[in-house]
Amino acid sequence: MTALSCHIRKATPADQPRIHAIRMGVSENVLSDPSRVTDQEIAWYREQAVFLVADDGGEVVAFSCANHQTGLVWALFVDPAHEGRGHGRALLDAALERLKAVGHAQAHLSTGAGTRAERFYRRHGWRDMGRDLDGQIVFVRAL
Ligand SMILES: CC(C)(COP(=O)(O)OP(=O)(O)OC[C@H]1O[C@@H](n2cnc3c(N)ncnc32)[C@H](O)[C@@H]1OP(=O)(O)O)[C@@H](O)C(=O)NCCC(=O)NCCS
Repeated sequence: MTALSCHIRKATPADQPRIHAIRMGVSENVLSDPSRVTDQEIAWYREQAVFLVADDGGEVVAFSCANHQTGLVWALFVDPAHEGRGHGRALLDAALERLKAVGHAQAHLSTGAGTRAERFYRRHGWRDMGRDLDGQIVFVRAL
């Protein structure tokens, strides 16, 4: 199935099992300690920030989270079975639109070096600002 049949909408509590499965199912940028992401944090993104899913005929296949308070893109994850169909691009664009709409001139995020995500962000105009304390690449992009 292509991304054309897919639509982007706000995440709901009912999406959480699929979101969790996607987060745990990726092979890069894996969560080293799942307890570091709390239910409270997830609920906060859903209720107070930007939490979007790509819904493909009723199945959630990808999600993104952004923090419009600070301009952070916190998460972008695509089910490995649905990669390369434009979901990542579409969800990232939708999240960045929301950051721009509240007045941010720049977005930022961090990601693992040597990953598909690193190549993806470089192709889409993100600027490498160097490494953070955990060795992740910090990227910024003008909006
Ligand atoms: C990095 C990641 C988000 C990319 O998502 P994705 O949905 O595969 O990305 P896209 O499909 O939007 O784009 C990737 C490439 O797929 C191809 N593509 C895009 N749309 C396509 C379509 N409709 N049909 C076929 N191929 C397509 C293109 O080659 C595209 O590259 P381009 O943007 O230079 O043209 C995804 O691989 C992922 O979740 N990785 C694991 C988790 C991770 O590392 N997340 C980032 C944490 S910061």
